Amino acid sequence: MDWGMQNRLSRLIQSDGHCFFLPIDHGYFQGPTRKLEKPGETIKPLIPYVDALFVTRGVLRSCINPRTSPPIILRISGGTSIIGKDLSHEGIITSIQEVLRLSVAAVGMSIFVGSEYEHDSLLNLGKLVDECENYGIPVMAVTAVGKELEKRDARYLGLCCRIAAELGAQVVKTYWCENFEKVVNGCPVPVVMAGGPKCETEREVFEFVYDGMQKGAIGLNLGRNVWQHEHPVAMVKALRTIVHENASVEEANDLFRSLSGE
Ligand code: 5RP
Repeated sequence: MDWGMQNRLSRLIQSDGHCFFLPIDHGYFQGPTRKLEKPGETIKPLIPYVDALFVTRGVLRSCINPRTSPPIILRISGGTSIIGKDLSHEGIITSIQEVLRLSVAAVGMSIFVGSEYEHDSLLNLGKLVDECENYGIPVMAVTAVGKELEKRDARYLGLCCRIAAELGAQVVKTYWCENFEKVVNGCPVPVVMAGGPKCETEREVFEFVYDGMQKGAIGLNLGRNVWQHEHPVAMVKALRTIVHENASVEEANDLFRSLSGE
């Protein structure tokens, strides 16, 4: 592997082989998502506990201090909105010059397998990988489900992850699901888990994160279940122990309770 590619990946994936990315990119199609109205303020207390931020160039430039920023995964796909016709109709919205100028550790884009625009999103991924390989920049493919959250099962997510890896993504982001080992075992590159909409209880989050890690995920790209929580710092610290310290659900839950005072 090229030196630059290795160096960038090691900024993201820590020496234990695990990682905790904090996505704050939701506004690129959802607008001012709840608790992310002022992203810079929301994430300030969380930054010390995450390994990277997943963010668009607009929020990066306007809300993140370049002197103290953690490593960045730049969201470079978009062009749709929650009120538009079809969330899957994304294109590449950021040039490679901009990616280099912003000195990011990786880029990320969504693929929409099974949607009307499947073909376009997969070709975009292939082209992006080609371009990024020239500069040693890793690509994280996001297996997006749009509004169809019920699509999150092992057969579908396994298909998406494998296709993303076949097209050259260095890391794949997907959702946790039952039989998650099937998703990971069919994907030859590292898999990170998103959280999806906020869960009812924090214990549910600890349970799926623990299960996914046991089944081979290398970590998280998990946002709303952290920053939409009433106690985001307690959440991020507790989740970090599962990702980086092999903590059990019970241990993470105990830590959460002691930090949040619940
Ligand atoms: C949304 C994304 C997010 O990065 C991803 O869904 C993870 O965030 P969450 O844990 O809130 O689902 O791609 O555009």
